[in-house]
Amino acid sequence: MWGRLILLLALTSSTLSLDKLNMCMDAKHHKVQPGPEGLLYKQCSPWQSNACCTANTTEEAHDDNSYLYNFNWNHCGIMSDNCKRHFIQDTCFYECSPHLGPWIQKVEQSWRKERILDVPLCKEDCHSWWDDCKNDITCKTDWHYGWDWTSGTNQCPLNAKCRKWTDVYPTPQSMCEQIWSKSYLYTELAKDSGKCMQLWFTGPNPNQKVAEYYLNKGSGTHHNSYLVALLLLSVTSLNVLF
Ligand SMILES: *[C@@H]1O[C@H](CO)[C@@H](O)[C@H](O)[C@H]1NC(C)=O
Repeated sequence: MWGRLILLLALTSSTLSLDKLNMCMDAKHHKVQPGPEGLLYKQCSPWQSNACCTANTTEEAHDDNSYLYNFNWNHCGIMSDNCKRHFIQDTCFYECSPHLGPWIQKVEQSWRKERILDVPLCKEDCHSWWDDCKNDITCKTDWHYGWDWTSGTNQCPLNAKCRKWTDVYPTPQSMCEQIWSKSYLYTELAKDSGKCMQLWFTGPNPNQKVAEYYLNKGSGTHHNSYLVALLLLSVTSLNVLF
């Protein structure tokens, strides 16, 4: 009887400790748990009150070829500043967000154990990103895979010619979904819908409510009823005991 009770309590507490509304993914530079960070750098400062990134990561996120991933934005000539600021914001979002729980998936990659998949992006953020990059140049659609890394940074592989952005990505949707191998899902939802994730925001983080919405809508309800069942079972066992 005691054994069963202890098992139930252990199960319950382990279920409770995975808080999908406030967690950090297990990846290259993320903190173990989210928390306040005093001095997040420039574009990453909106995450200051609760972040999965450190100040160091946010400063590096603003540099070309930073030690974070040795990633070269300028692989087909210099990327325009207007375009680059979206990649900086995307890096801040990826490194700092504590509300990506509903979209975190396990992966077997040398550099991380978890990734994000199909995070529903607000239409405005995807469109302004594409608009500001549409006169830039790139050689690849999926920037996660297939680079030539022999120099230590990513270069276009031999078979990939530098082409106009709009030839590689004809639409905002094709860019947002393909550039990081489906990390993002394109939506027609606007920021004020409360149902899409925002890369750009000021003030309190609007993405917590969005994560909550998707958790309650999806597996979250099962998760909760599972918890309630466990608690009821525990109470029943206690009643039998005493
Ligand atoms: C961040 O940390 C790395 C590794 O410790 C270090 O090499 C780098 O200089 C730091 N960057 C900043 C901007 O402090």
